[in-house]
Amino acid sequence: MEFEEMLDELAGRMADGHLIKATISGPRRKSEGLQRIRLKPVELRGELYIQFEYQYERILKHENVPAAGIREELDRRLRDFRQMQASFTGEDVQIMLSKKLKVAWKSKQTGNQAAADLSHDRKKQYLLEEGKPYPFLVRLGVQTPDGKVKKGKMDKFRQINRFTEFIADSLHHLPKDRTIRILDFGSGKSYLTFALYHYLKIEQGLDVQVTGLDLKKEVIEECRQIAADLGYGDSLEFLVGDINDYNEETRVDMVVTLHACDVATDAALGRAVRWGAEVILSVPCCQHELFGQLDAPELGVMLQHGLIKERFAALATDSIRAELLGLAGYDAQILEFIDMEHTPKNIMIRAYRTGRKPGADRILRYKQFRDLLGAEPFLERELNSLLDW
Ligand SMILES: C[S@@+](CC[C@H](N)C(=O)[O-])C[C@H]1O[C@@H](n2cnc3c(N)ncnc32)[C@H](O)[C@@H]1O
Repeated sequence: MEFEEMLDELAGRMADGHLIKATISGPRRKSEGLQRIRLKPVELRGELYIQFEYQYERILKHENVPAAGIREELDRRLRDFRQMQASFTGEDVQIMLSKKLKVAWKSKQTGNQAAADLSHDRKKQYLLEEGKPYPFLVRLGVQTPDGKVKKGKMDKFRQINRFTEFIADSLHHLPKDRTIRILDFGSGKSYLTFALYHYLKIEQGLDVQVTGLDLKKEVIEECRQIAADLGYGDSLEFLVGDINDYNEETRVDMVVTLHACDVATDAALGRAVRWGAEVILSVPCCQHELFGQLDAPELGVMLQHGLIKERFAALATDSIRAELLGLAGYDAQILEFIDMEHTPKNIMIRAYRTGRKPGADRILRYKQFRDLLGAEPFLERELNSLLDW
């Protein structure tokens, strides 16, 4: 079989959803550092992709390749390796490649079932995989040493994974020519801080400097100990402090918060905007500020019910946050974080810096809304000197 013909055959089977798993091994050039590539099908937003997992000496990198790009990626990679083993539906294949790219293709019929009906009965494909132990998740008590997610920790595991997906989607907004500075405000036990360090530094091999900040001294000390035990080095640090007093930075690229209580979220957003962070990802928590301020007779039909008032206050608060970020030069969106079934705290505010100035009509629309509610938002006060009004 010719090399080109082999590529057509492999790419065709993979694009048709017949791949179960494959491994490319035996690097020809040790100096490149890439030791092995594992492939498996994944479903992302309803589409089939092949995930290429590149194993270097110390790091793993992942790339999800759409059906249209599989042949090209195989072509690029297989030239540098001696063999590939692949399980397809009903057939195992072993391929040996000579230096001159002559192909020896051996196959064996099996009872393998397709991996394969990706849209049905398939476990959700997480960036952090179930069943694979991650040392930080084991130390934080989310996983057992053999990689099982512990009872009662599945929600946390989902949240960390989902947040990491948002981070992965935002990578193209971050600088490529210098260290990426990231702050996690109200980091608490720091599941997310560790996860983003793991994903960006260890899996993606990016040059990052990550700080988790929280009020709680003992918790932060524990995080420091875990990071030291895992040998994470200087690019991950944990600080005790109040977001409101944290003025140490001049340039920050990404600010994240996960369930930072009440106006701690606003304090974090305010700082992120002041530093001109390119990416802000924030999942708010409980909201009390607006609940206490709401004074809108026009909305009395709703606000007479405590439960509705509470929910309305939360939704209005996040709308105000997103709008203020918009007025401060960000493209801000409200997205679903985790579906309602798992947590009611299911809103993600995602903002990318554009630097665009708002028009007078948008400013007026915001002020009318704020005044209708009788709101005096913390974030507006934080951003007042920066807002162009
Ligand atoms: C609900 S916990 C969430 C912790 C973590 N982000 C997570 O998702 O597991 C909220 C954290 O915010 C911290 N926090 C609240 N206000 C803060 C402030 N002003 N400055 C720093 N941390 C704050 C609390 O100490 C607490 O650990």
